[in-house]
Amino acid sequence: MCGIVGYVGKEKAKTRIIDGLKRLEYRGYDSAGIALATGEGIEVRKRVGGIEKLEEIITDAGFDGEMGIGHTRWATHGAPSDINAHPHLNEKGDIAVVHNGIIENYLELREWLADEKNITFRSETDSEVIAHLIGACYEGDIYEAVRKATKKMRGAYAICVMAAAEPDKLIAVRKDAPLVVGCGDGCNFVASDIPALLPYTKEVYLLENNETVVLTPDDVCIYDDGGNRVTRDVFHVTWDVDAAEKEGYEHFMLKEIHEQPKGLWETLTRRLDENGDIKLDGISMTGEDIRNFDKIYIVACGTAYHAGLVGKYIIEKYAGITVEVDIASEFRYRYPLVDERTLFIAISQSGETTDTLEALREAKRKGARVLSVVNVVGSSVARESDDVFYTWAGPEIAVASTKAYTTQLMCMYLLGLYMGKQTGVLEEKKYREIIEELKTIPDMLTEILEKENDIKGIARRFYRREKVFFIGRGTDSAVSYEGSLKLKEISYINSFAIAAGELKHGTIALVEPGVLFIAMCTQDRLYEKMVSNVQEIIARSGEIFAVAKEGGEEIKKHADNTFYIPRCSDDVAPILSVVPLQLFAYYVSVMRGNDADKPRNLAKSVTVE
Ligand code: G6P
Repeated sequence: MCGIVGYVGKEKAKTRIIDGLKRLEYRGYDSAGIALATGEGIEVRKRVGGIEKLEEIITDAGFDGEMGIGHTRWATHGAPSDINAHPHLNEKGDIAVVHNGIIENYLELREWLADEKNITFRSETDSEVIAHLIGACYEGDIYEAVRKATKKMRGAYAICVMAAAEPDKLIAVRKDAPLVVGCGDGCNFVASDIPALLPYTKEVYLLENNETVVLTPDDVCIYDDGGNRVTRDVFHVTWDVDAAEKEGYEHFMLKEIHEQPKGLWETLTRRLDENGDIKLDGISMTGEDIRNFDKIYIVACGTAYHAGLVGKYIIEKYAGITVEVDIASEFRYRYPLVDERTLFIAISQSGETTDTLEALREAKRKGARVLSVVNVVGSSVARESDDVFYTWAGPEIAVASTKAYTTQLMCMYLLGLYMGKQTGVLEEKKYREIIEELKTIPDMLTEILEKENDIKGIARRFYRREKVFFIGRGTDSAVSYEGSLKLKEISYINSFAIAAGELKHGTIALVEPGVLFIAMCTQDRLYEKMVSNVQEIIARSGEIFAVAKEGGEEIKKHADNTFYIPRCSDDVAPILSVVPLQLFAYYVSVMRGNDADKPRNLAKSVTVE
């Protein structure tokens, strides 16, 4: 949540910072601001709304400099407003700060600053406290002042700071919130995430927790918590700048839906050796370790949690090990039975989700072995895990996750198959068959994308509905949860998912004319039961949009609309059946006039509890 960018160099900072902020807008977009060292001090411009609103008030050429910091906000303390937007200044206005995270002891600090230092606060944010605290510690050396101030701060933060009196020096600190440094030619950058840097450099330093970095145009010095200089290898980013651009698509979400065949192919083939066997290169977990696990926890948030629900079916079926799936914010605060014989699987696109990271730390403390399924290389979850199974989705920018989800599913199959082979539960023949089928998934997914207009037509029919239920059985129930999340997060329709067999225990009371049911009917062994559930809904005047496998003719006789996915085994169907739901959510969102990439109140990377 919140995106921060800092630049120090010999060129104009303004365009570079704005450019970086635009690439971080997925992190938060309720207000934005920029502070520049103009030569006459620090000048701040900030405004409620997206970056385009900020751009309207910074057009004058005189407002520029060779060093600056910028911010795009996702509000935590204080509503989105011009005053609450970052950067924040100290009382004298000669130190500016941008912050991502939450300062947990900000009330205490605020009181101390007001009572002892006579400071009047302008905003309702926790972040303003940081600017005043650094101001109170400043004696001519901004690095020292930041060090002293951060010692008094509790919570999670990535901050970037500049002082008017030191116009060629930026300071940034990382504690439980992401931060990367970009190394340019005669300039250096700091940002919350790599996409912000891509037009200018692919050479980055990934900062560790509790590190402070001092950036000047020609130098980057990283210090640990104790103030000791640290050496760090440069990480070379392999993505292209195009990977973080829309490339002609109206929204990132639509582009990312279309990138799924490629991401799935990459994720699969990077884990297959020349004999077509699954290889876990770089993963230290042995066959013996796997046979020793008596329990697996899959823990995640949001869409990643839904990938875990499918993972449970697959791993239990193929490997014969009990799997529990938990929402990270719940896992943290209950009493999970974790020990040395537990495998903890964290799934996270960003690798920075606080709840997932904290759950992982808790499991590790209790002795579990930790394997993570992560998209962002070098992210916190990846770094703190014993082993990492990367998804090769490429950067995902849209808040609503699509390609990360299907590549997470691919990892679940690969893990399930690998584990099944090690435990001996999965027969060799079945193992080979499924791998062969996984290879056909990208083409089958492309076939679905070619029928995008059919989904658009169905979306046009139903986009005004205000109540939508998603139902399914088996893995179709897991996909229903994901379909429902997709729809509600970008269309704001009240949507809800439930296992179809559970309908009769309460939810069926809500069926009435005008209520749409999206019935997932892709599981051959449960198909007839789904047809019966659909009939029960129709008998009560509900409407049906069904998703089924080609050849499932019966459902068509009852549903208002049916979308067919290619014929495939029940096991792999979730990777395909979610795609019409992604497209449906996207088109409904657009037809309702929403910004599908930037849904209200949400952020892509959630680094608060
Ligand atoms: C946020 C995003 C979701 C995402 C969830 C978990 O809520 O809006 O799209 O699924 O966080 O994120 P992660 O990066 O851990 O997968």
